[in-house]
Amino acid sequence: MHRSLLHTLALLVALSAPAIRAEGGKTLAGAQGIPYPAVIAHRGASYDAPESTAPAYLLAREQGADYLELDLQRTRDGVLVVVHDDVLVRTSNVAERFPERKNSPVSAFTLAELKSLDAGSWFNHAYPDRARASFAKLPILTLDEVIDIAEGNPGRQPGLYIETKVPGQFPGIEQDLKARLDARGWLDRPGRVVLQTFDRKSLALLHEAMPQVPKILLLWVGTQAIAPASGQDFAASGEPDKAAFYARQQPREKAEFLRWLDLAKQGGAIGTGPSATRTALGEQSYADLIQPWMNQASHERGLLVHVYTLDEPVDFDKAMKAGVDGIFTNRTSELMRFYQRSTRSESVTLDDLDY
Ligand code: G3P
Ligand code: CA
Repeated sequence: MHRSLLHTLALLVALSAPAIRAEGGKTLAGAQGIPYPAVIAHRGASYDAPESTAPAYLLAREQGADYLELDLQRTRDGVLVVVHDDVLVRTSNVAERFPERKNSPVSAFTLAELKSLDAGSWFNHAYPDRARASFAKLPILTLDEVIDIAEGNPGRQPGLYIETKVPGQFPGIEQDLKARLDARGWLDRPGRVVLQTFDRKSLALLHEAMPQVPKILLLWVGTQAIAPASGQDFAASGEPDKAAFYARQQPREKAEFLRWLDLAKQGGAIGTGPSATRTALGEQSYADLIQPWMNQASHERGLLVHVYTLDEPVDFDKAMKAGVDGIFTNRTSELMRFYQRSTRSESVTLDDLDY
């Protein structure tokens, strides 16, 4: 073959490679009933309103998120509730209300006790530029209350993207979750619910309880996770800046990352949720696990990639160019704008909502 023709063919193959990868992710998502690329509202629209509260979820719904993301735990009296941290001090007034139990886990409180907490005022202190008087005294929500929000507007019906949080503390939570989703009729539509966990035991239990529901294994570099090249643990590193520490971390070797993809697949996951390093670093910035070869390896194994947690257009752009299939974000409106999916959603604000 003529040399210049060979060169042209090679160029065409090279140029078409990213498109083939993107189509791979889109096809994988479509087969599971999952929107592509997916907008996953991380703890709701949690940049604008206190995480995991009614205004955060209502705003994410109205802005057009595909999924409301939530962290699932269980009260002492057996009710499924939506709280991110193991303990309540960061996001509530538990230290004032129950000083002697301020560092107790969520599982040590009854629903009535949790409902007596103010889960909104902390946000006004932490983010005065985004504070609102209406955030004071916002309650912690149950899973059923988030389902009510997801069902609340017939014109805007996001799915739920549910993480079993510290599942070792909650034996049987996977079956409890199945029972509630079933009771609410949420297991009938493919892709309406996505289940996620960092914990491989919980992944197996979720798969056993709900084999037909798509599941994501969350990935990070650290203890009981992808082994780091540095061999270091953040807590033992002495590094004062968590984001700076994680920005330096990478898998011990390529095979270690690929091993975790295989574990995800063997555990019944249809995809992974890798961490990412934010350009501006900060609290939710971790190791970069969305390098193009990583996303390509995931797609080659038939696994989707939903990256957590990005809020800035520069990082959305980098992630999409690297080949991810959806993004967890605290800023639903920004991601909708980036994907050019904003219409009415751009103009929806907290002032339009009743909570
Ligand atoms: O669930 C994905 C992402 O939310 C994992 O991190 O700590 O925010 O739950 P985290
Ligand atoms: Ca989560």
